[in-house]
Amino acid sequence: MNKYYHIATYGCQMNVHDSEKIAGILEQKGYKASKIEDADIIVFNTCCIRETAEKKIFGNIGDIKRLKKQNPSIIVAVVGCMSQQQGMQELLKKRFPFIDIIMGTTNYHKISQAIDHVLLIKHYYGSVVYEEKPEIIEDVPIYRTSGVNAWVNIMYGCNNFCAYCIVPYVRGRERSREPQKVLDEIKSLLDKDYKEITLLGQNVNSYCNDMDNGWSFARLLENIAKIKGKFRLRFMTSHPKDFNKEIVDIIASSPNICNHIHLPVQSGSNRILKLMNRKYTREHYLEIIDHIKTIPGVGITSDIMVGFPTETDQDFEDTLSLVKQVRYSNAFTFVYSPRKGTPAAEMEQIPASIKKQRITKLVALQNKITREISQEYIGLTKEVLVEDINPKFENTLCGRTESGRLVNFEGNKSLIGQFVDIKILKAKSASLWGERQ
Ligand code: 5AD
Ligand code: SF4
Repeated sequence: MNKYYHIATYGCQMNVHDSEKIAGILEQKGYKASKIEDADIIVFNTCCIRETAEKKIFGNIGDIKRLKKQNPSIIVAVVGCMSQQQGMQELLKKRFPFIDIIMGTTNYHKISQAIDHVLLIKHYYGSVVYEEKPEIIEDVPIYRTSGVNAWVNIMYGCNNFCAYCIVPYVRGRERSREPQKVLDEIKSLLDKDYKEITLLGQNVNSYCNDMDNGWSFARLLENIAKIKGKFRLRFMTSHPKDFNKEIVDIIASSPNICNHIHLPVQSGSNRILKLMNRKYTREHYLEIIDHIKTIPGVGITSDIMVGFPTETDQDFEDTLSLVKQVRYSNAFTFVYSPRKGTPAAEMEQIPASIKKQRITKLVALQNKITREISQEYIGLTKEVLVEDINPKFENTLCGRTESGRLVNFEGNKSLIGQFVDIKILKAKSASLWGERQ
């Protein structure tokens, strides 16, 4: 009899890729993917970066109570960043006694054993490992669901301890994967005809800083760019303190490395950057941006936060002026959310009403800039990697320019996975519309 699983993934690309590994393990165990209602195993791969994420996950786990009542043999597992928080395993178990498995960010590869435990002993399995530098587990089977793009971890964890951020507490210290392992994985993915590789790490620029092997992120990029064949290389996330001119020069001179750089600034105020423990100044950040802008047609994106503790009107104005100066092609904008256990949660908080006013203003400004940059594409012909059909429109495909812009155009789905030249005819806020040349 067929057995089914459903994975609900929350949060960043790191989690999306972790879910591909969990899926790989479950597929190897003989399970098939299904809708949540039909699943024998439901896995919540969780995030705790902001309170909104946590609230949503609590709500969604709560909804499972009904399914579990109808069919008590369903196995419910909670893994990922939220379960890794101190005290959370106990809290989850108390609030949702029907949960069968709780595992953290570094031991989910043992989910197969956990399931066997629950099936055989019919008893709760809880295991969250609190280790600073857990071992990197290689050779986990991966069931990839990301289309023409393949995610590749280059490192795990973070050493930066930005004052607002929970990540270093739930994902441990930086651990880099062996360069040869990374290169071998990429070569095998390109052999399987993946057209885009995205390198993943909380702070990819500090790649191999934790190893004494002479490698660096720049050297890794150079070596990947040398691999034969046509493909696109992307990476995320970069930290401005470690982003240097050498990396910019490699990107500029390597046709395979996309001219899109995601460089989170968080704030434009030096006072706030210092309180955030970001280890760079506005001036240093803008200097890197000047280098980056020497790459032809480059798309620069960012993460920007408003409402960090003690942020004044002037600090916020500094963020707005930086956004105007850089002119990001797009940005993820966030309202600061206090996270228990982080230094910023203990600082003087600012009222929700002010945070709301500021985020509205920031989003309006960024949307205006995004629209203006979109207009600049009209009339240009750009190479697009076709990713998928656009389900909202008949006969319409979508893909991205090298700079990361979404482009829609008419075409047959046989083009998915191919590089095509598209002349841009129309722009709608962040997305572009064009026709094949
Ligand atoms: N509140 C709001 N946003 C946050 N981020 C990280 N921690 C918090 C927090 N406590 C944002 C940062 C980071 C992105 C992934 O999430 O902008 O770059
Ligand atoms: Fe969080 Fe800062 Fe590490 Fe990014 S670099 S994961 S924001 S602590």
